[in-house]
Amino acid sequence: MSDPNPHAGLMQRGAGEHVLIAEDDASAARVLRLLLEQAGYRVTVAADGEQAMRILDEQGAPDLLLLDWMLPRISGLEICHAARQRWDALRLPILMVTAKTDPESVYAAFDAGASDYVGKPFRGAELRARIDAHLRTRRLMEERARMEGHLRERDKLFTLGLLAGGVAHDLNNPLAVISAHAQILLRRAADEDSAEQLRDIIGAVDRCSRIVNDMLNFARRHPVERGPVDVADVLRATVGMRERKLSTSGVDVQVQLPDELPLVAGDWHQLQQVFLNVLVNAEQALGERGRTLRVSAAPVSEPAPSVVVELWNDGPPIPPDVLPHIFDPLFTTKAGDEGTGLGLFICRRIIREHGGWMDVRSGDDGTAFAIRLPVYPD
Ligand SMILES: Nc1ncnc2c1ncn2[C@@H]1O[C@H](COP(=O)(O)OP(=O)(O)OP(=O)(O)O)[C@@H](O)[C@H]1O
Ligand SMILES: [Mg+2]
Repeated sequence: MSDPNPHAGLMQRGAGEHVLIAEDDASAARVLRLLLEQAGYRVTVAADGEQAMRILDEQGAPDLLLLDWMLPRISGLEICHAARQRWDALRLPILMVTAKTDPESVYAAFDAGASDYVGKPFRGAELRARIDAHLRTRRLMEERARMEGHLRERDKLFTLGLLAGGVAHDLNNPLAVISAHAQILLRRAADEDSAEQLRDIIGAVDRCSRIVNDMLNFARRHPVERGPVDVADVLRATVGMRERKLSTSGVDVQVQLPDELPLVAGDWHQLQQVFLNVLVNAEQALGERGRTLRVSAAPVSEPAPSVVVELWNDGPPIPPDVLPHIFDPLFTTKAGDEGTGLGLFICRRIIREHGGWMDVRSGDDGTAFAIRLPVYPD
């Protein structure tokens, strides 16, 4: 479940962030470590400047860098300067801790890119408060960047939707004309060769229409109309559409539907579109090898009265690196013009708009898509 207030977590203190401390005085380092670990941070201590530089090289930026100025060989100021060349102040806050508190030193520290400055001897509570504040800001910045990423993604999809909708709409008419003329010509075809070519044309136009329909559905923005729907009825009709193709490929189709199934709240045609895409995917996964496809549905009462539909096939498992992406828009593993990669993306959206939920599991025992739909209210 998602946090109702994502910012609540941001206001906490240490959230396990990594603080790298460069401090050559062992007892001062101990105190700092204790102070920060108690506050919930993860701490690494470098005993001199060289070690600090090595850690930065090998592990990349910590979440905050705490530098003593006076370190053997490479000074804190030099580390600060070098680190700032690589990471900006939003990515890496740098705090200088030093006995050099004369104004020139303070300026030099800020010039070298320090984010903040604490004089020695410092008060533990103050140092911790400053570190908390810097890391809080950093967390907020990260959260913002994440949200901006989501927004950009949504924007892209929206533009894509508009574009797809427009193009698809304009393609529908010419496609219908091509199909109609090809069918007329087919009826009058003089020989089997011409008939074959015309059937190819009609087949290709059919494929184009399907893609166009996908795109139109993808671009569709109006809310679903939900009436009472008998899922078993939709499933039987959908399997019926593919039955011939499935049996010529030698697939054993098992339909296991209970006699009585509660009605769900939904749009018959949209649900059919979902089942059809999942079915066609399964068909394609089974290829010509003719194994098993099982379609089943059952009522469940938890967490809310629903019907769960399962479409299972014993085709090869979806590789673990592919599985997390199959619901992504435009993600397909199908070669050339075989797939647009919009199928499951649209399916999941339709099911979500129905107040339902759709998921997949895949392994050596096959691939199963589960679709949960809320029961129609009495
Ligand atoms: N039953 C399945 N078995 C194995 N892989 C599957 C199955 N269903 C989906 N996939 C994988 O998920 C990917 C995405 O499926 P999706 O339906 O979204 O797009 P597509 O089938 O490639 O193209 P289309 O837009 O024509 O449906 C597929 O390319 C395939 O790799
Ligand atoms: Mg598909």
